[in-house]
Order: sequence, then structure tokens, then C-alpha cells
Amino acid sequence: MKLARTRDELAGALGELRRSGGDVALVPTMGYLHEGHLSLVDLARERARATVLSIFVNPTQFGPDEDFVTYPRDLERDVEKARERGVHLVFAPRDAGVVYPDGEPRITVDPGPMAERLCGAHRPGHFRGVLTVVAKLLGLARPDVAVFGRKDFQQAVLIRRMVSDLELGTEIALGAVVREEDGLAMSSRNVHLSPDERAQANGLHAGLRAARHAFGSGEREAAALLEALRDEVEARPLLALQYAEIVDPGSLAPVDPVPEGSVAAVAAYCGGVRLIDNTVLE
Ligand code: PAJ
Repeated sequence: MKLARTRDELAGALGELRRSGGDVALVPTMGYLHEGHLSLVDLARERARATVLSIFVNPTQFGPDEDFVTYPRDLERDVEKARERGVHLVFAPRDAGVVYPDGEPRITVDPGPMAERLCGAHRPGHFRGVLTVVAKLLGLARPDVAVFGRKDFQQAVLIRRMVSDLELGTEIALGAVVREEDGLAMSSRNVHLSPDERAQANGLHAGLRAARHAFGSGEREAAALLEALRDEVEARPLLALQYAEIVDPGSLAPVDPVPEGSVAAVAAYCGGVRLIDNTVLE
């Protein structure tokens, strides 16, 4: 496995991978790798001959009051995990200047009205930052396929739209949400949960399960499904609900009555940690 810290090193290593034949899959991450990330590596390895994993905590997708500075980082450990999982090349820019050589980009990707819903309503500028850095990573690595997780549902939908609307020509593959034993969706940020918070953090999943159960019993009214979801979150005093919504997976618009295939999405603070989760209602 190779490690590239600069654009030149990336270009050199990609050239070698391409010369040895076959296609390239890219798995973009912000590091502090867990099984969720590594499941995407497995998917990438099924989809292409060579797997490139990027590790970059992208400053432009964090708001001024968000956790850019305290976001967990451990490159050495990440490189080892990537190697063990069969990644061919890790691209871990030495600093933000590698990705943004001219400082903050003057031209960015406008994520449009779908970014004003769900998480976007609470994190102004977040998806502009995400789409811009993903566009740059696609441009730098020119992968045949790029792999993202369904855990960040709105992000995955917006990236698919961007690649399609802007004809970027990369195939987008999505991996399932990987969870801890109690249902908590894996996230790098979970390491910041105290033991008490950790014990209640599965409330988002419990709420989604309750909504799915009610849907399975025939309930189609959005308010009733959301009440089942909220009850589970509100039963845990360390969780502070930010939003719970049921949306169309294509447009992200709220649905009521709720058709099969709609997505229930939830965000809550657990102490200082913002958690998100979602599930398909079927
Ligand atoms: P990050 O939060 O590190 O996540 C990287 C990728 O892993 C994303 O596609 C995310 O959806 C996926 N992922 C995270 N937790 C997961 C889980 N429990 N199960 C399945 N997949 C999971 O998302 C980002 O980084 C950034 O916004 C990025 C796309 C890299 C742009 O900076």
C-alpha cells in the first residue's frame, strides 16, 4: 500500500495503479476509520481493481461553531487499518493547502434547494463544502467509481445529484449503514460520547425502528410515524432532538401519507455530539 501526502505523490501513485491495468474506486473519508468506512472499502474492492482511500478533514464543510478542531484524527492508526483491509493507496493531504492551494475556492458547488432540508437546514454552508471537496477529490483522483455510505443519507443523495447534473462521469456506489451491537450507527464522533451518553445514543436507532415497526403494522400517517420515532428519542434525557422527518428519497421533500420506500431521518445532540441516522420504510 502507498501513502500519498501531496498532489504529486497522488498523481505518481495513481499513474502506477492505472498502468498496472484496471479501474479505480475512491472512498472519500475524514479518517478516524471505523467499520462503517471499512465496509465501503470492501464494496470498493468488489467494484474496481484498485482502491484509493482519501483521508481529509475538510475545513470548508464545518460551521464556525462546529467541531473542526476537535474532530478525531489518528493517521497512523488509519493507515494501518487501510493496509489491513486491502486499500492500495491512501491519499492523506499533508495540510489543507494541498486540497486548496489558492486558499478557499472562489468557485464552489451550489447544492441547491435539496440542501436546505434536513441537516442542511441546521448546518448552513455544510453541503456546499461537502460537494465542493467531493468534486475536487473526484477531479484529483478521476476514479471510475466512488463509494459513499447511506448513513449520511442527504449527503449521498446530493452527491448522486451533483455527479448526474454536472455530468461528472463517475459511478456512485452506496454502502449500507454499519451499526454497533445496540444499533448506534458507527461514527468517528462517537468516541466523544461519555459512558452515560453512549448508553442513550442508540435512541435514534430505537426511534427509527419504532417508526419502521408502525409502518409495518400499516400506519401511513406521517405524524403518527414521527410520534413513534420521537417517543424513543424523548425517553432518553441525554438526547436533544434536532429534527425527525419522513421524506421522499429522491427529492427529500416531506411525504404524507407515507409511501413505501420513504426515508425516515433523524438528528439529535447527545451531549456535545451531533448524531444522525436514517432508515428506509418498507
Ligand atoms: P466521513 O464522516 O468520514 O464518512 C466517510 C464515508 O463513510 C461517507 O460516505 C459516510 O457516509 C460513510 N460512513 C460513515 N459512517 C458510516 C456507517 N456507520 N455506515 C456506513 N457508512 C458510513 O462523510 C464524510 O466523511 C465527508 O463529508 C466526506 C464525504 C469525506 C467529504 O469531506
